[in-house]
Amino acid sequence: MADVKWTDEQLLAINEKGKNILVAAAAGSGKTAVLVERIINKVINEGVDIDKILVVTFTNAAASEMRERILDAIYSKIEENPDDTNMQKQLSLINKASICTIHSFCLDVIRNNFYELDISANFRVADTSEIEMIKQEVIEDIFEEKYIDNNKDFLELVDIYTGYRDDEPLKELILKIYRYIRKCTISR
Ligand SMILES: Nc1ncnc2c1ncn2[C@@H]1O[C@H](COP(=O)(O)OP(=O)(O)O)[C@@H](O)[C@H]1O
Ligand SMILES: [Mg+2]
Repeated sequence: MADVKWTDEQLLAINEKGKNILVAAAAGSGKTAVLVERIINKVINEGVDIDKILVVTFTNAAASEMRERILDAIYSKIEENPDDTNMQKQLSLINKASICTIHSFCLDVIRNNFYELDISANFRVADTSEIEMIKQEVIEDIFEEKYIDNNKDFLELVDIYTGYRDDEPLKELILKIYRYIRKCTISR
């Protein structure tokens, strides 16, 4: 965006340094443009390579847009000055730049450090229905264990919270508390 006349607020958001900043403005008002300009300025003025900057978004679409627009900005710098070796270098680095969703970034961190976490190298992310099934299995197993143990406190709890021969309400209550603790909405 070489010939854009930035507003004062945009300039502030582009040039502010050394602190966290939050930019909130209406759709189409130029937030992404500001972000792209901040990144390009870092590359040009501070000699930071594009693959040393982490750019995270919430959606895949936003990540693709971000990558596209950074690429466009690099191309227009090269157009302005075809001998700009720094920009040519950025062009070759952009493919391995971390411009992605927060989820895929976290997944990468886990994948690259699985051994620190004591999990298998070929772990994968479960889908929602798998997670529900695993939760059910775990709670069934725990109840089974506690019944076999004849744990007094547990049996008392079952007695208070369940109907005749049906401990489902207690299991559901435990899962509800679990969801609440994880700050998810409690379903009904
Ligand atoms: N100061 C400006 N002058 C002219 N056009 C601008 C300016 N700032 C942003 N734009 C343009 O407005 C459009 C929307 O900007 P964008 O960054 O996508 O907005 P947002 O991310 O806030 O939805 C883009 O085409 C962008 O190039
Ligand atoms: Mg945007």
